[in-house]
Amino acid sequence: MTRLAPSAGNMQPWRAVICGDKVHFYEKKAKAMQNNPLGDIQKVDIGIALSHFDLTLQEEGITGRFAVEDPGLETDGQTEYIVSYEVNR
Ligand SMILES: Cc1cc2nc3c(=O)[nH]c(=O)nc-3n(C[C@H](O)[C@H](O)[C@H](O)COP(=O)(O)O)c2cc1C
Repeated sequence: MTRLAPSAGNMQPWRAVICGDKVHFYEKKAKAMQNNPLGDIQKVDIGIALSHFDLTLQEEGITGRFAVEDPGLETDGQTEYIVSYEVNR
């Protein structure tokens, strides 16, 4: 469902790294979207994608929590860590 989220320019800037019970979300910034007078419009996309993720988990009865706990994975200069989700066991 996260993959189906709408995004500015249909650029789908979200990236997710699944590590066991955790999912780490990142924003892959597109150069073409960085001069928007409103600021980083792709942050809005990330919020929409996270909402899709969260609402789908709720619908499936899966519980957990969001937390900003950067796992320190190596990224390129255009990719920013945003937040992680940990599924309750
Ligand atoms: C944050 C955001 C900003 C958008 N800005 C524009 C826009 O300025 N002009 C436009 O025609 N569409 C805009 N869109 C629509 C996207 O281009 C569209 O959602 C995307 O191409 C995917 O198509 P779909 O929503 O039909 O699945 C925006 C979408 C989002 C999420």
